[in-house]
Amino acid sequence: MSGHSGTACGATTWWAVLPDPFPILGFDHVEFHVGNATQAAHFYRSLGFVAVAYRGLETGSRDEVSWCLRQGEVTFVLTGGLGPDSPVADHVKLHGDGVHDVAFTVPDAEDAYRTALARGATGVREPEVLEDEHGKIVRASIAAYGDTVHTFVGRRDYAGVFLPGFTPVASDGTAGLGVRLIDHVVGNVELGRMDEWVSFYERVMGFTEMRHFSDREISTEYSALMSKVLWDGVGKIKLPINEPATGRRRSQIEEYLMYYGSPGVQHIALRTDDIVATVAAMQAGGVEFLRVPDAYYDEVRDRVPEVAGEIEALRTRGILVDADDDGYLLQIFTKPLQDRPTFFLEVIERHGSLGFGAGNFKALFESIEREQAMRGNL
Ligand code: FE2
Repeated sequence: MSGHSGTACGATTWWAVLPDPFPILGFDHVEFHVGNATQAAHFYRSLGFVAVAYRGLETGSRDEVSWCLRQGEVTFVLTGGLGPDSPVADHVKLHGDGVHDVAFTVPDAEDAYRTALARGATGVREPEVLEDEHGKIVRASIAAYGDTVHTFVGRRDYAGVFLPGFTPVASDGTAGLGVRLIDHVVGNVELGRMDEWVSFYERVMGFTEMRHFSDREISTEYSALMSKVLWDGVGKIKLPINEPATGRRRSQIEEYLMYYGSPGVQHIALRTDDIVATVAAMQAGGVEFLRVPDAYYDEVRDRVPEVAGEIEALRTRGILVDADDDGYLLQIFTKPLQDRPTFFLEVIERHGSLGFGAGNFKALFESIEREQAMRGNL
């Protein structure tokens, strides 16, 4: 298991001096469509998220309930439908609980939307202005893989907590568990469609391919996948896209596609500066993580000497280690967070490495396959 299996693909920086043709300031928020937003919001507290805003019947929202949760710079919105005619209920019926919207903050949402459409994107929500006493925001949405959308949010003229229509929730005094920002958001797409979505992000948003991983690099005895990583060139946005590759049994990507019912967001990586403390606190709150066999740690000491002093803490928590030419990273993955074996979270601490843990893929996938086998899906 080498930590050097990622292949850098032409990461030049010449465009840094040119005006950005598709400026994105960062991830704005991620919205999940769920069966019961109120209970899901309670679960996300065990991951360190704190409710900051709400909309529902009490605030005049007749069709949907949303809890806006925050930790560091990460904003998650959990939305549930209030009746059978709600599009949220349709989304949940088809996909189970899952990510509907990966929203980006942009300087000008109308401009982003028009540019995206001119470059071949499909519009799903025309630009609209939302206003309240804190100002106004402009938003518009385009289609991404499956039923996933990207909303462009222009919040230059807004000083409220989240969006107009949301009422602030009084702080409960908790301070989070150390999560600072979204490191990357990973999508699973169907066999043979990865390159189509890579070119979508290249063409529409001007992203470039940062790395790719072949099925030879990411395979176990049973299954394989291929992955390409798109990024904005500076690192605020990193979007890996996976597709299944042919293996002897059903791969984890195929299991995802079967239960999600379409392509969609597989996992979101949350960055912390102290993964041992963050994960210990999440585990104390009942969050379950995947484990690799203990033997994994015997070879980590040789593979990544920088972590020699921390091995016992990492082993206790089940945290994985990988290194490349730029440095190393520590990472861990939760089990699926909902009934269906679909969406999960990663927690990651980076020390120079810009990678995604390719050196851990094999050990990790074998761990996922043990869980798949228990579900009768391997
Ligand atoms: Fe990841």
